[in-house]
Amino acid sequence: MVPMKLNWKAWWCSLHKHNHFLVKLAVSILLAGLAFRLLFSGSSGFSNVAEIPFLEKTVTPKQPVSVDFPENRDPIPKKEKCDLFTGDWIPNPAGPVYTNESCSYIEIHQNCMKNGRPDTGYLYWRWNPRDCELRQFNAQQFLELMRNKKWALIGDSISRNHVQSLLCILSKVEQPVHVYHDEGYKSRRWNFPSYNFSISVIWSPFLAQAAIFEDYNGVSTSEVELHLDKLDSKWTDLYKDLDYMIFSSGKWFIKSSIYYENDMILGCHYCPKRNLTELGFDFAYRKILTNLFNFIIKSNHKGMIFYRTISPDHFENGEWFSGGSCKRTRPAKEGEFGLNELIKILRDVELKEFEKAATKASEKGVKLKLLDLMQLSLLRPDGHPGPYRHFHPFAKGNKEKIINDCLHWCLPGPIDSWNDLLMEMVVNG
Ligand SMILES: *[C@@H]1O[C@H](CO)[C@@H](O)[C@H](O)[C@H]1NC(C)=O
Ligand SMILES: *[C@@H]1O[C@H](CO)[C@@H](O)[C@H](O)[C@H]1NC(C)=O
Ligand SMILES: *[C@@H]1O[C@H](CO)[C@@H](O)[C@H](O)[C@H]1NC(C)=O
Repeated sequence: MVPMKLNWKAWWCSLHKHNHFLVKLAVSILLAGLAFRLLFSGSSGFSNVAEIPFLEKTVTPKQPVSVDFPENRDPIPKKEKCDLFTGDWIPNPAGPVYTNESCSYIEIHQNCMKNGRPDTGYLYWRWNPRDCELRQFNAQQFLELMRNKKWALIGDSISRNHVQSLLCILSKVEQPVHVYHDEGYKSRRWNFPSYNFSISVIWSPFLAQAAIFEDYNGVSTSEVELHLDKLDSKWTDLYKDLDYMIFSSGKWFIKSSIYYENDMILGCHYCPKRNLTELGFDFAYRKILTNLFNFIIKSNHKGMIFYRTISPDHFENGEWFSGGSCKRTRPAKEGEFGLNELIKILRDVELKEFEKAATKASEKGVKLKLLDLMQLSLLRPDGHPGPYRHFHPFAKGNKEKIINDCLHWCLPGPIDSWNDLLMEMVVNG
């Protein structure tokens, strides 16, 4: 098992010494592989969930009540300024607040309990920042705070993963009503009728205008046509009406793409069949994030906007296309996992772009925050479905063909803790 990892590293290092551009290209070729398509396809896999599409229920919202919160939500700082993102995973004997039985919003590919994952230890941890106390997400209190508000999570399938976690936790207090979906069930909205509160997930993996060519199975049939200068109207059209937004992106930039500006081809990323200039995926990500943040800064938005950093994967002993897996059952130690080179490149872009934007945003009075969940997520190699993205994967004895998902997160699972941090940031505005 170890030699494979070393080989990969050795191969990587030798390439890296030669040419950064060549590295990006080489890795991209690998990433265009089958498993990537399978894992990161646009299909929502929601078809197994009973749906009541387009049902607009009229419910008279409950009158706001003054809630007596048992706990003061002010953070209990051990130090002057608390960094929520530096901390440790500590045992949480209470475990998750929902299960596969109590929540019906879990996508089949992330329903590890239902799919037969045998260990449960990964469910009993919570994130503990070093310098302050972090309370567990309080669904009742969150819903009260969010009365008459609109949320949207905008991005790729990890945003969808996150929305489902939120829905599962909130549904312990009130069942959301599914009120909208697009044709492919990729963009959806739910209302919490008693609170006049809605949560949307908006499918916009590039955050910009993109034509994606995939067949029914999520297999790419042609390069993505990505407009670097046009933000995606799927979210810009709704932007003014939303109170809270969490943007995220990154992984889809690795795909083969043709880049456009002013409707003219500028170049591409990994398009060997075309006579175009390779610009690199970091070029495109940087351009689009610059546009995104400029849009936000200019918007005079009065709500709160988060940029969530890229979520790491944990393939070990290979990549997804070469039998990589994630068999751990406990959180990792700090430093045990590093970021793979691609994620490092993408993360570098998002941190730099955010930093540039943050000062301008605060000058303009726009609440723009970095939801930097990367480090804490990196410590959770035990939180992915692995083979349990399928129902009882070993039942038929065909171990060879199984592709592991070490990228999305089991529900319940570590991704639920993301909401603890989110709530703390919302409350402390
Ligand atoms: C939930 O998971 C358990 C195993 O952990 C399984 O026995 C049960 O059938 C699942 N229930 C549903 C509704 O999926
Ligand atoms: C529900 O919230 C919206 C704002 O999101 C507000 O315009 C509307 O008046 C609210 N409806 C009720 C019945 O309070
Ligand atoms: C590729 O493009 C360059 C510059 O646009 C041009 O000079 C060259 O002839 C093209 N090659 C092919 C094979 O079309």
